[in-house]
Amino acid sequence: MNVLTTPEVIDTIGALRTRLTGERERRGGAAPRLVLLPTMGALHAGHLALARRARELGDIVVVSIFVNPLQFGAGEDLASYPRTLDADVAALATVGVDIVFAPTGRVMYPHGKSSTKVTAGPVGAILEGAARPGHFDGMLTVVAKLINIVDPDVVVFGQKDAQQVFLVETMLEDLDFRPVIEVVPIVREDGGLALSSRNRNLDEAQRAAAKALSAGLVAAASVAGRGVAAAEQAARETIDAQPLVKLDYLVVVDPLTFLPVAADHHGPARMLVAALVGSTRLIDNAAIDLN
Ligand code: PAF
Repeated sequence: MNVLTTPEVIDTIGALRTRLTGERERRGGAAPRLVLLPTMGALHAGHLALARRARELGDIVVVSIFVNPLQFGAGEDLASYPRTLDADVAALATVGVDIVFAPTGRVMYPHGKSSTKVTAGPVGAILEGAARPGHFDGMLTVVAKLINIVDPDVVVFGQKDAQQVFLVETMLEDLDFRPVIEVVPIVREDGGLALSSRNRNLDEAQRAAAKALSAGLVAAASVAGRGVAAAEQAARETIDAQPLVKLDYLVVVDPLTFLPVAADHHGPARMLVAALVGSTRLIDNAAIDLN
């Protein structure tokens, strides 16, 4: 392990490819196992858990830090999205990341926006995709670019963004991408709140109220044996008890299709919630067993 080695920060595609080729040569032509963790920076303990898993899985760990304009809609927080490269690199040093790839917008999209895009299909238009039209096309497009640039063996994603994970898995399969995906469980604060870059926008009262999301998921899981309606009711009651939390959606999906399950569905499922806490949109999810 390279713990406490400052990662090398590379900001162009050419320099990154040269560095990775050099690494191969240094190992006598043997291909190192390469792991890519794509991020938008503003790293917190949840990202570091992903980076730690990446470190366990590979010889070379590349973390990309790029606030991707393609996945932000008009009126979203692109301009104000926190950019904290120095702090991010220092945090990644503590888990032994080898390379930080931090390109500018011009490096990633030399002609402005990409005219070729990956489209996410019907699942990209529901839930988070309904709230943020075009978001998942932009997300998949940059993930496809990053995979082509780095050519990793493994890509690491967090379960927190369950719909993103489903769509990346689908893209990897549909378009015959080489890497396998590693999905890392959600990291939670004491009290259950899922770690998110957006939690920094919550004041003390909102942060306390936001725990209702994970509490709702726990309540749902505890009655899931009684069926979809019982699980949804338990979650809804727990969340609605918090006046500061305004539910956007609460839905149970089939993990195989990511579409809402029928009322009589049995077997593994995933409950997803999205809510506004003040003006901050939060999401969370958990596996539930409808048996
Ligand atoms: O989850 C994120 O931070 C972003 O959607 C990702 C995967 C880095 C693509 O920009």
